[in-house]
Amino acid sequence: MGRLLIVSNRLPVTVSKRSGNLHYDRSVGGLATGMASLEHGDQLWIGWPGLSSEKTNTKDCQKIKTHLKKEGCVPVSLSSGDIRDYYYGFCNKTIWPLFHYFPSYCIYEPKLWQRYKRVNERFCEAVLDIAEPEDRIWVHDYQLMLLPQMLRKHLPEATIGYFLHIPFPSFELLRLLPWRMEILQGLLGADLIGFHEYDYVRHFCSSVHRIAGVEHTLGTLTVEDRPVRVDAFPMGIDFEKYAHAREDAKVQAKIDSLVRKMGRRRIIVSIDRLDYTKGILHRLEAFDWFLTRYPKYRGKVCLVIVAVPSRTRVESYVDLRRQIEHLVGRINGAYGTMDWMPISYMYRSLPFDELVALYNVADVALITPLRDGMNLVAKEYVATKVDPDRHGVLILSEMAGAACELSEALVINPHHKESIVEAIHQALEMDPEEQCSRNQRMQQRLSRYTVQRWARDFMDSLEQIKAQQQKLASRKITHSIRAHLVESYRQAQRRLLLLDYDGTLMRFFTQPEHARPDAELLTLLTKLCSDEKNEVVIISGRDKETLTNWLGNLDLNMVAEHGNWIRRRREQWQCVEGMVHDWKIIVRPIMELYVDRTPGSFIEEKDFSLVWHCRRSEPDLARLRTHELRDAVVHLTENLNLGVFEGSKILEVKSIASNKGTAAERWLHQEHWDLILAAGDDYTDEDTFAVLPEDAFSIKIGQGGSRARYNADTVSTMRSLLGLLTGAVSEQHDTSTTCSV
Ligand code: UDP
Ligand code: G6P
Repeated sequence: MGRLLIVSNRLPVTVSKRSGNLHYDRSVGGLATGMASLEHGDQLWIGWPGLSSEKTNTKDCQKIKTHLKKEGCVPVSLSSGDIRDYYYGFCNKTIWPLFHYFPSYCIYEPKLWQRYKRVNERFCEAVLDIAEPEDRIWVHDYQLMLLPQMLRKHLPEATIGYFLHIPFPSFELLRLLPWRMEILQGLLGADLIGFHEYDYVRHFCSSVHRIAGVEHTLGTLTVEDRPVRVDAFPMGIDFEKYAHAREDAKVQAKIDSLVRKMGRRRIIVSIDRLDYTKGILHRLEAFDWFLTRYPKYRGKVCLVIVAVPSRTRVESYVDLRRQIEHLVGRINGAYGTMDWMPISYMYRSLPFDELVALYNVADVALITPLRDGMNLVAKEYVATKVDPDRHGVLILSEMAGAACELSEALVINPHHKESIVEAIHQALEMDPEEQCSRNQRMQQRLSRYTVQRWARDFMDSLEQIKAQQQKLASRKITHSIRAHLVESYRQAQRRLLLLDYDGTLMRFFTQPEHARPDAELLTLLTKLCSDEKNEVVIISGRDKETLTNWLGNLDLNMVAEHGNWIRRRREQWQCVEGMVHDWKIIVRPIMELYVDRTPGSFIEEKDFSLVWHCRRSEPDLARLRTHELRDAVVHLTENLNLGVFEGSKILEVKSIASNKGTAAERWLHQEHWDLILAAGDDYTDEDTFAVLPEDAFSIKIGQGGSRARYNADTVSTMRSLLGLLTGAVSEQHDTSTTCSV
C-alpha cells in the first residue's frame, strides 16, 4: 500500500515571521489539532503554512521547507492576493457563513470564486507533483471542495477520500450559492465523502439529487459509472491523551497553580476560536442573566473565557471581538468587586498543558455554539474528567455535531437564553454522583470511537468502495469479450434475445408515456427481427395496450405486466392462468390517499397490477411516502397472493402468478438455442437472469448487484452493443468501451 497524502488548507504547523525571524506554532482549530494527534504512518501532509509568499524570501522558503519536511509536511505557497480573495474571501466570507446557516453574512463575488478555483488548482498541482500511483489522497474541509474532481481529472484511478469538518447545510441554504453545481461536482470527484453526522449526509444527498440530478442508493451515488460512497464518521479525540494528561508533572503544576488562584470559587469555562458561529455573545448574555437571577452565586463563580484569535481580517470577526470585549467589560463592571471579577477573559490560544489544566479544574464547560460541525473541545473536556474524581458538567448546544454522541450532557438550545441560565444553575447544583455517572457514560463512547478509530474507519470505507469499483471494473466487457459475443452471434443458427424495455432499450422519462420508441430504436429492433435466426422477446412491465401501440407492428414476441400477459409473434395476447384482480378494490383507495398526500404522484392501472408513480414528486417526500405506502399495502395484502415491488420511482402491487422469469422459460424451453442474450435494468429482470443457462450472455444496465454476468453502463451502451451484433455499428466506430461485467 502507498503513502497517505493528507491535503488541507492549513498545515498542523503555522509559520509566522516576527522581527525577521521565523516561528513555528501549533495550528488552531479542530481539523489541525484532531488530525495532528493521529499516529504518523507513511504519510505526508500538504497545506498552506500560514504565511504569504511576499513575506518570505528564497532563503526563508528553503528554511520553511526543510523545517516542515522534518514534520512530514509539504508547503503550498499562497500570495497575499490568494489569502485575501481565497482564504479570507471565498472560504470565510462565502462558504463558512453559508454552511453555518448565516446567509446574511455571505457575499457572492465572482472574483472571489475565481480565486477559490485557482487556489484549488494550485493545491492540485502540489499533489500531482508528489503523488504516486499507490498513494491514497485524503482531502479535508471546505477550503478544498473542488480539489477531488480536479485530481480525478488527472488521476482517474486514484484513491481519493474527502472529509468535511463543518456542517453541510440543507438544500434551502446551498441553493443560494451561485456556484453550487460546481461545488457538488468538485466533491463528487472523491471515492468517499465523509461528514461528521448523518444529518449532513442527508443534506448532501438531497442537494446532489436536486441540483445535480444524481440519486443515491443506501449512501452510494453513481457518478459517471463510478460508485461514490457518502457516510457519517463522527470525528473523535485522542482519548488517552486527555484522560491521562494530569499525570504529567507540568500539567499537574498548572492545575495546582489554578486551584491556588481560584480558591473555592466554582469555575465555568468557555473555550473556542473567536467565531460568530460559537455563540459567545449569547453565552455571555446568559451568564449575565444567571448572576441576576441567582445572586447567591455572585462572588462564588467565575466564567473563564478563552477566545482564540481567528480570521482576524474578516469584518464580522473584528466586530464580534469588539462586542465580546465590550460585554465582558460591562458584566465585570456591573457585578465585579474588589476581590472578585465574574469573568476572566483571554484573547489567545492556550498551549496543551494550560488547556488541559483548565479542563481539569473547571466545574462546568459551557459550550454553546449556534452551529458547529462537531466541536472537539466538548469531547476533550469530558475526557479529562476521569478518576480520582470525575466531577464536571458539560453544557452543550444541540446545534453542535458532538451533541449526537454526548447526550448525557445538559443539552440546550443556544438561542434560548433562559435554558442556558437554568442549565448553569442545574450544573452547579448537580449531585457529584450524577456528574460522575453522566461523564462515565460519555467517556465509554469517547474512549471507543477515538480519532484513531475514526481515521481507520474512514480509510477502511475508502478501501471498500475502491474494491467495489475494482470489482465492477473487472467485470467490464473488454474488447475480447465483445468480440467473443459478436463471433458467437455470427456462428449461432438460432438466437434468443430477451430484452426489457424501460431503462434497457429506452431511457427513463418523468412521464412514462413519453418513453415511446424513437426512430433509432425502431430501426434497431426491425433489423434484429428481420434476421430469421433471431427470436426477439420484449419482456416488460408495461401494459399490453402500450406495448401493442408502440411495438405491435414489429415481428417480435411481447410479455406485458412482468409476465402476466404474453403475445407470441403474429398471435393474440394471452393471459397467464391463475391471475386475479379483485384485490384492486382494496388497494386502490389506499393508493389514492397517497396520491392526494404526494403532489405529482399518480396511479397507473394495468390488468393485474396497480402502480403508484412518484417520479414527478419532490424526491425526499417521494422516498418517505414510498416507504409508508409499502408498509400500508404489505400489511393489508398479507393473505392475498400479491407482490409489492419497489422499482425506480414506482411502487407496484401485482398478482404474482407469474414473473418475467416464468415468462422467459416459455421460450427458453421451446427449442435448442445456440445463443441466448438477455438484458434488463431492475429487480424484475433478475427473475429472467435467474432462469438462464450458465452460458447465456446476461447484461444488467446500470450498476449494483445482479445475477447477470455483465453490466452495461447506460441504455446507449446497450443499444450500441445490439447495433454491433446487427452490423449497424462497426467495432471501430463503437466507442462504448463502458460495458462492464
Ligand atoms: N484549542 C487549543 N488551544 C486553545 C483552544 C482550543 O489548542 O486555547 C484546540 C482544542 O483542543 C480543540 C481545537 O482547538 O482540539 C478546537 O476544535 P473544535 O472542534 O472545538 O473547534 P474549531 O476551532 O475546529 O471550530
Ligand atoms: C475549523 C475549520 C478548519 C480550520 C479551523 C481554523 O475547524 O473546519 O478547516 O482550519 O477552523 O480556522 P483557520 O481559518 O484558522 O484555518
